[in-house]
Amino acid sequence: MSNLNTERVLEVHHYTDRLFSFKTTRDPSFRFVNGQFTMIGMEVEGRPLLRAYSMVSSNYEENLEFFSIKVQNGPLTSRLQNIKVGDSVLVGRKPVGTLVQDALVPGKTLYLCGTGTGLAPFMSVVKDPDVYDRFDTVVLIHGTRFINEQAYGDFISEALPNDELIGELVRSKLKYYPTVTREPYIHNGRITSLLASGKLQADLGLSPLDKDNDRVMICGSPAFLKDMVEMLEEHGFEEGAISKPGHFVVEKAFVEK
Ligand code: A2P
Repeated sequence: MSNLNTERVLEVHHYTDRLFSFKTTRDPSFRFVNGQFTMIGMEVEGRPLLRAYSMVSSNYEENLEFFSIKVQNGPLTSRLQNIKVGDSVLVGRKPVGTLVQDALVPGKTLYLCGTGTGLAPFMSVVKDPDVYDRFDTVVLIHGTRFINEQAYGDFISEALPNDELIGELVRSKLKYYPTVTREPYIHNGRITSLLASGKLQADLGLSPLDKDNDRVMICGSPAFLKDMVEMLEEHGFEEGAISKPGHFVVEKAFVEK
């Protein structure tokens, strides 16, 4: 049996000349935990060309959704960015990943920290009713250089709070904090500095970082991950895994070089 499903593209949305998202059909046998990723791609010269992509869609949704960067000479994304409704994409049948709630010990506040396309796995997490059972407050932080990279902003602040299934949970528990570093915006600054200084928590009426209450999921560029981990470890946080849950978990955003 092939380890890939062939899915059909249902929608494509271009945010900027560097970012786009798309929806596909979903094989009913494809199951995943919110926060996980799988290999996706296209057939190129008779062979599958695949990269890791987090699911933006939650595990109870009928279709799949992915969020992607466009890399000019990237072997996959230079092609994938041209997909049209009706085209085929390959979706790996084996989802994996560390950004799962079972890798964290119980806590009060969950911080979901993503830069760039590192937002993707957290989109499936904030649509997951379970996360609101486990935490009193869920904070979704998206850091980008520019405002037009704040993809999903309208969805998070307008559609999600009115969602039939989880709107009420979102309204009472989700706090959204989009922040931009290279032009003026409602929030400015790097996620690391905003969390370490306590500015972000003060803006949201939350307490400064504290390993007894706070749990953190991190996804973004290698430099961002390194600085976040260093900052959290300075605060006594320990990395978790399913085999040994901890205070934070980390996954790199799979940017094509
Ligand atoms: P900055 O503009 O100050 O570099 P990128 O597109 O390079 O992945 O960046 C996405 C966001 O992540 C930007 O706001 C960027 O801020 C920020 N960023 C980049 N490197 C780090 C880092 N080491 N620690 C915290 N934030 C970072």
